[in-house]
Amino acid sequence: MSGKHFDKAAAGWDQKQRRVEMAAKIAAAISNTLPLNNKMTALEYGCGTGLVGLALAPQLLTLTAVDTSTGMLEVLTQKIKSEQITNVTPLRLDLSQESLPDKFDLIFCAMTLHHIKEADQLLARFCDMLADGGYLAVADLKTEDGSFHGQEVDGVMHHGFNPVELMTTLTKRGLEQVAVQEVHSLVKTNDAGVERAYPVFLLTGRKG
Ligand SMILES: C[S@@+](CC[C@H](N)C(=O)[O-])C[C@H]1O[C@@H](n2cnc3c(N)ncnc32)[C@H](O)[C@@H]1O
Repeated sequence: MSGKHFDKAAAGWDQKQRRVEMAAKIAAAISNTLPLNNKMTALEYGCGTGLVGLALAPQLLTLTAVDTSTGMLEVLTQKIKSEQITNVTPLRLDLSQESLPDKFDLIFCAMTLHHIKEADQLLARFCDMLADGGYLAVADLKTEDGSFHGQEVDGVMHHGFNPVELMTTLTKRGLEQVAVQEVHSLVKTNDAGVERAYPVFLLTGRKG
């Protein structure tokens, strides 16, 4: 899936109920796991149309919602306008090419890491961008056989992740309280016509 794919998919993105349900589960898990509060500045990476971020924004001071897809950001901008949301700022940025000088109390990233070739480098960047005591939350697919995206291979850089390996990566980067939990099981019919479940994990940690 290229950036163009996400631009094209943006207008109809929220019409797939399974995406909306998954985002709600991920947002609820982040909210139930981490001590969110209305003094926190947050960054969401790969925000899409804001399904996860807009669910969490009422609990936060500010949310910088980052994505590389103009189409996704346009849909999010429309929602911000129509719902008169004042604490969410959409931002087009690719953290694998550019950086932001700001530090955040919370960084979260849902179903985006598998689109990033240098996933370890991005996780390292997230850790650098956390304020002291700040929290990281990453939700993504557990290692799968490639059938999740099927023929849509363009832009899919990883067939999920081994969450235990990611825990080790974050611990090596100095995060504390690193933990993982399964937060959802997405049921999807793959290209072979077989319906199967794809587990989704939430990885969390705190910068000491
Ligand atoms: C599967 S969607 C998930 C969207 C949203 N987090 C959700 O759960 O509904 C992946 C998102 O990552 C974005 N994305 C892909 N590559 C990216 C990159 N290098 N940097 C930032 N965002 C990226 C896409 O534009 C898309 O919005």
